[in-house]
Amino acid sequence: MTTLPETVGVLGGGRMGAGIAHAFLLAGARVHVVERDAESADAARERVQTALARSAQKGIEIPDADDLTTGVGTDAFADAGLVIEAVPEDRAFKLDALARIEGAVRDDAVVASNTSSISIDALAGAMRRPQRFLGLHFFNPVPASALVEVVTGVATTPEVVRAATGWVEAIGKTAVVVRDAPGFASSRLGVALGLEAIRMLEEGVASAHDIDTAMELGYRHPMGPLRTTDIVGLDVRLGIAEELERAFGARFTPPALLRDLVAQGHLGRKTGRGFYEWSER
Ligand SMILES: NC(=O)c1ccc[n+]([C@@H]2O[C@H](COP(=O)([O-])OP(=O)(O)OC[C@H]3O[C@@H](n4cnc5c(N)ncnc54)[C@H](O)[C@@H]3O)[C@@H](O)[C@H]2O)c1
Repeated sequence: MTTLPETVGVLGGGRMGAGIAHAFLLAGARVHVVERDAESADAARERVQTALARSAQKGIEIPDADDLTTGVGTDAFADAGLVIEAVPEDRAFKLDALARIEGAVRDDAVVASNTSSISIDALAGAMRRPQRFLGLHFFNPVPASALVEVVTGVATTPEVVRAATGWVEAIGKTAVVVRDAPGFASSRLGVALGLEAIRMLEEGVASAHDIDTAMELGYRHPMGPLRTTDIVGLDVRLGIAEELERAFGARFTPPALLRDLVAQGHLGRKTGRGFYEWSER
């Protein structure tokens, strides 16, 4: 199995960054999380520590407290073999973050973005070493998710792809290698299924429950496409569909029902109502 870098850097210790830090810590790496200010750095530390405590409760061996460091300056990435960017999903923001990471790391470090929708080639365009850059798309929540999409840009070298795939396996997850394309593999297929299910509901083909049950029992999906959309968030799915529509045309045009529910503030589990009623949030 590929050996993990001794030190892994994470820029942005929010929901995803903290989950990523937790995963590498459990696998034995030292992790340095950099945040935008001291208060956010403390909050990030708290998030990672909470996740570690939860692992300990499950009987999982957790690392020494000093394997996790948090702070504000990217200088601390100087000895990292891998740095993963997990700042908010905004292209200009990410370009700036990646430039700061590149300015801090050694030449042989691999730099990755956890973007869920921005083109890896677009992000690589501003980088000095695009050959050592790729996407590592983790899923939410990271501890419960077995998948990481390894997204390769045109410049990413096969050696970097091999190393990254090995690291994903070393943290106990499964890697799929995807060429940089809108929606990568997971969002494109998942949203396609979700949009068709919504159109079927609009056309009165079956109830939400029966459409979901058809996929759960007929195709052994662990969860039907409408319930999945409720959990992901209707607003999140609408945003992805609009982006995929721009890239691929009418087959990703969001159905009116999806737009209407979002406009009414019915965003799924987080607001208590989407295609289902959710009493517990
Ligand atoms: N939440 C999801 O379901 C999910 C799933 C897969 C990928 N992603 C992607 O992961 C990335 C992060 O998403 P998230 O949900 O963790 O967001 P989040 O808002 O929870 O976390 C972002 C973190 O970045 C920090 N940050 C902001 N500016 C910074 C700066 N200049 N320097 C350092 N840190 C900074 C914020 O303080 C915050 O803690 C996004 O690109 C998102 O698209 C999210």
